[in-house]
Amino acid sequence: MRLKRLIGTAALATLAAALWWRKNPSACPYGQRFWVEAPHPIVTRDRLSSVLIAQPGERVLEIGPGTGYYSFDIAKWVGPEGKLEIFDLQQEFLDHVMRGAAERSLANVIPTRGDATALPYEDDSMDAVVLTAVLGEIPDQAAALREIHRILKPTGRLVVGELFGDPHFTTLSSLKRQASDAGLDYESHSGNWFAYFARLHPR
Ligand SMILES: C[S@@+](CC[C@H](N)C(=O)[O-])C[C@H]1O[C@@H](n2cnc3c(N)ncnc32)[C@H](O)[C@@H]1O
Repeated sequence: MRLKRLIGTAALATLAAALWWRKNPSACPYGQRFWVEAPHPIVTRDRLSSVLIAQPGERVLEIGPGTGYYSFDIAKWVGPEGKLEIFDLQQEFLDHVMRGAAERSLANVIPTRGDATALPYEDDSMDAVVLTAVLGEIPDQAAALREIHRILKPTGRLVVGELFGDPHFTTLSSLKRQASDAGLDYESHSGNWFAYFARLHPR
């Protein structure tokens, strides 16, 4: 009986925390990185590969790489003649990915710290931008999407990954609407309502 009450209280507390977090977008703290290190069902690296279709020599920006769940693969896909720029609010995540890149002898990963609403890259300079489980953490998502539009080459693409269960989950319809307001048009997606990678391009 006592155990049941304890489990019920814990479940309610978790739900309340998730609801609060959803209403107050903020970055996942480095101390809670076990969430991003866990397997990402449906939004797998293979699925990202099939949506992103990265080419050797490309310059790709990954916003919010976390601990690098996708970063090392992207760096391999663009090859030594390409570049993976990683951009994050938190230096600890950038350092974590750079340690992993060094262990794998990947010399084409470039870290930069900052806020996605003010990207320090030139106009029309990226072949692709990738963000997974990041958009909902940004308080001003419209500003971040406008910045992504600005730095993407006219022929570039944006790939957004989302996984239900993340308190900041963004539905595909909400993404399409917000992206369209920023001048980015939906092209296709792979996955389902609960977990997907969507591909968009500048209008
Ligand atoms: C939930 S983690 C996702 C990590 C990784 N993409 C993955 O799927 O495993 C969110 C990441 O976005 C970063 N982030 C959140 N808000 C940001 C912002 N405004 N600008 C740049 N990075 C941000 C966090 O610091 C964190 O690294």
